[in-house]
Amino acid sequence: MSAVAPQAGGGVVTARPRARPGPAVVAGLLGLMLGGCGGGEEDSASGGGFLPPAGYVADAARGRALFQANCARCHGAGARGTGQGPPLLHPVYRPGHHADLAFYLAVRNGVQPHHWKFGPMPPVRGLDPEAVADIVAWVRQQQRMAAIQ
Ligand code: HEC
Repeated sequence: MSAVAPQAGGGVVTARPRARPGPAVVAGLLGLMLGGCGGGEEDSASGGGFLPPAGYVADAARGRALFQANCARCHGAGARGTGQGPPLLHPVYRPGHHADLAFYLAVRNGVQPHHWKFGPMPPVRGLDPEAVADIVAWVRQQQRMAAIQ
């Protein structure tokens, strides 16, 4: 019995890792679909932007009426909440925790439930950015009166 195993020449496959060029990450990030970022120049009510023009002076009294018509159903006439939605006069919605932007986004996109158990907030149609600014002004005013700031 021969103990000499014939060596099969060329049995060694040199697996040379091919220097592959990293996948060219063509980051075709097509800008955020959120559109305008409050550029302010163009008429934001036209649907492109969702922030009011820079320098827009919000009207809290008008905001109150708009809130009653569009938000009170869930957030309550005094923004103190209902069985359908949370109070906005709540420390969690103070400006430092939910900036005004959260309002514009909530109105435009709706809200996935993450703080409460009321379920999602659907987008609210028919409000231009100025209207939301007015609503925010009123809510902030009410928050200040409730010492939430
Ligand atoms: C159909 C009910 C409903 C209506 C109408 C509604 N909301 Fe809401 N909203 C909710 C609920 C529910 C939440 C809480 C979601 C969570 O965080 O659990 C919420 C959350 C929010 C938040 C917090 C967003 C965040 O980033 O956490 C804001 C701001 C808000 N609503 C503003 C408004 C405004 C302004 C209007 C009117 C233009 C409005 N909502 C109308 C149900 C409603």
